[in-house]
Amino acid sequence: MTALHSLRAGIIGTGFIAPVHIEALRRLGVQVTAICGSSANAAKVAAQWGIPEVYGNYDYRALCQSPQVDVVHITSPNQAHVEQALFALAQGRHVLCEKPLGMTARDTAQVVAALKAMGRRQPVFSVNYMCRFFPAILQARAMVQRGDLGRIIQVQGHFFQDWLLEPTDFNWRVLASEGGKLRAVGDIGTHWIDAISFILGSRAQSVFAHLETFHKTRQRPVGAVQTFQNNAGAKMRSYRVDTEDFGSVLLRFGRASHGFADAVHANASISQVAAGHKCSLSFNLQGTKGSLQWDLQQPNELHLGLRHEPNRVLHRGAPGFSEDIAGYSDYPAGHAEGFSDAHKMQYRALYEHIARGGRGKPLFATAADGHHEVQLCEAILQSSKLGRWVKVPK
Ligand SMILES: NC(=O)c1ccc[n+]([C@@H]2O[C@H](COP(=O)([O-])OP(=O)(O)OC[C@H]3O[C@@H](n4cnc5c(N)ncnc54)[C@H](O)[C@@H]3O)[C@@H](O)[C@H]2O)c1
Repeated sequence: MTALHSLRAGIIGTGFIAPVHIEALRRLGVQVTAICGSSANAAKVAAQWGIPEVYGNYDYRALCQSPQVDVVHITSPNQAHVEQALFALAQGRHVLCEKPLGMTARDTAQVVAALKAMGRRQPVFSVNYMCRFFPAILQARAMVQRGDLGRIIQVQGHFFQDWLLEPTDFNWRVLASEGGKLRAVGDIGTHWIDAISFILGSRAQSVFAHLETFHKTRQRPVGAVQTFQNNAGAKMRSYRVDTEDFGSVLLRFGRASHGFADAVHANASISQVAAGHKCSLSFNLQGTKGSLQWDLQQPNELHLGLRHEPNRVLHRGAPGFSEDIAGYSDYPAGHAEGFSDAHKMQYRALYEHIARGGRGKPLFATAADGHHEVQLCEAILQSSKLGRWVKVPK
């Protein structure tokens, strides 16, 4: 038995990402004791995974109050996050909240304030920016912070998906009232920004953005829709779109304490209408001694670019990936690890932190990091409206 096995998880939500949480927790040996969703879905998911406590009718309060739950995983749509997070914290539960932490910075500030008010007795809180836990991202971070790449000059990259390419593709994320005012940038762009911020060891201080809605009008199926659902043959109705399909964002990062990244310039292209790109988070990070290139769709390889030596491909689990990330990779080189493994590593980091009594600075994104991402989104939206650089609040 390790300390993780005594911790028990309750999951709010039963959609696309909830089973990713359940599966990863099971792989770590964490007990999943409760599930909450619509009455039909909660019962179905509980039966599928053998989860003993079932809370239908979206009764998240009952789940948070269960004595069988130590850590609450919030995997409901964005608009429910802050209310559910505040309630879970008030019950003294540790929380893993899906990104984004909330719909507005005003709301997410409440979570940061609630934790602060609890002082030394505060539970552990994390926002699920799990891309931090791809071994290649941890490796890039170690190389940047050791100075292997020299002083970082700039970062360029993208996060592209194509699942909302057709005007008939629909999800609650398309509606500002349910997903937030920023869609592509808020939903996937913040993964890119958080990952780069994590690698550099500093936060974005100002932004300049241009956002576009390609499909000004879309059609949606009548009735509920699951994430990544194919709507072929469904009865449809038209609606005006109030979120962006794609955007270009310039970011200026602040000074990192390790001294190898100061005022780094980054530019990212974010799109959910990029044909053929399923889930491509990619970056090219350039320093005075070398560069690194990575794509989430080939997550086990990190490309190192050098001027005076041949370029190299570093493979997870093989020489080139250093020992200090060994705790976040379970299988040998050549045995691919990917999206679900990064979730598993994020939960391992979180549960080990809880088991240690919350001591030390965690690697995972905190409530403050989640709040910062929402502040960034608001600055990006404002910049796109004003057509100029906007400072991100500190
Ligand atoms: N970190 C990641 O890699 C990642 C990936 C996908 C989604 N997400 C995040 O996870 C969240 C859910 O996304 P999804 O793609 O699973 O959506 P989804 O629509 O597939 O699932 C949402 C689920 O929540 C349930 N639900 C709706 N309202 C609820 C409420 N008030 N209380 C409890 N349950 C409720 C729905 O019935 C559904 O089962 C979003 O915030 C999204 O941004 C994160």
